[in-house]
Amino acid sequence: MATLELYQVCKHFGASTALTPTSLQVADGEFVVLVGPSGCGKSTLLRMIAGLESPSGGEIRIGGHGVNAQEPSARDIAMVFQNYALYPHMSVRENLSYALKLRKLERAEITRRVDWAVDLLGLQPLLARKPAELSGGQRQRVAMGRAIVREPQLFLFDEPLSNLDARLRNHMRVEIKQLHRRLGTTTVYVTHDQVEAMTLAQRMVVMNHGRIEQVGTPEEVYAQPASTFVAGFLGAPPMNLLAAHISTDGTHVLVDDLAPLPLPAPQPALAGRAVTLGLRPEALLPAVDGRWPLTLNLLEALGGELLLHGSLGRQACVLRVATTASPWREGDTLRVDVASTALHLFDAASGQRLAP
Ligand SMILES: Nc1ncnc2c1ncn2[C@@H]1O[C@H](COP(=O)(O)OP(=O)(O)O)[C@@H](O)[C@H]1O
Ligand SMILES: [Mg+2]
Repeated sequence: MATLELYQVCKHFGASTALTPTSLQVADGEFVVLVGPSGCGKSTLLRMIAGLESPSGGEIRIGGHGVNAQEPSARDIAMVFQNYALYPHMSVRENLSYALKLRKLERAEITRRVDWAVDLLGLQPLLARKPAELSGGQRQRVAMGRAIVREPQLFLFDEPLSNLDARLRNHMRVEIKQLHRRLGTTTVYVTHDQVEAMTLAQRMVVMNHGRIEQVGTPEEVYAQPASTFVAGFLGAPPMNLLAAHISTDGTHVLVDDLAPLPLPAPQPALAGRAVTLGLRPEALLPAVDGRWPLTLNLLEALGGELLLHGSLGRQACVLRVATTASPWREGDTLRVDVASTALHLFDAASGQRLAP
């Protein structure tokens, strides 16, 4: 196990910047998830940690030692990819032991490690099969086994579940979490899936356009998104983001012609300012004497809960309510309330969090 430290690591491909100078510290044994939309630089960052890509600048340290000049094979890292990268002509057992044979480990040690991984991942019935005779989930499990037998200092995962169907993805997600609990190996896990990130991460790193937007526990990032990007990326459906401004006395937020919404605390510094008001779908509550009218355009029943799509003033908005049967119909106007403690304010131009 080891710590991982990045200092001002960046990457350019010709004239284009894949990663702006980025710093991050990962503690020994920590499970960190890099999450962000496709093309934001996650794989580039992971590949630089692995040594498959060299940084344009900055320093990478593993276990306190600079590794910029080290070959991938010298870094004591195991990486699991989306496409599994198993050797098609080898059996599962051979796939698991191959890297250890290359490293000239003793036979007894190879057997010990392979048996251990086989046991841990339930691979016993598959040992004689070739990759072509395995399902997607089984291949993914073999790929993880191949990483585990190396007993690396650091695990790197690049979207390992993206090729699996939803049910299997949920199952493997739980397996990966349990595996980390048992092994305690420092892990950096890349995904574009916010649910995977929220459920797996001890700390998540939200990336956008080649830079880090926010680092924190899933709870912190969800409760206090640092920007409209983060607010709109996490949560399904994501936070409602409404164009608004602060009253000239700094005590209320104003959305279109709706009744002013009191701020939890006066914000004299923001008086008169254009803002984006963020409200989670669960923060808006239908109430007979609610503050605002909401015109309902569309109802989505999701079993245990209901999504109400409507308009607040002139802006689209979604509510999530915990009920199975809807007392409302499309076209209805209902009243909604919002707890003033539930509001988020962002700068209208930059999208950066202002308050609370
Ligand atoms: N080998 C490469 N050559 C040129 N551009 C690249 C290369 N690899 C990645 N990029 C670019 O760098 C950016 C980040 O890519 P990537 O790290 O793969 O994103 P992600 O994994 O978040 O989807 C993208 O704009 C991508 O097109
Ligand atoms: Mg990628």
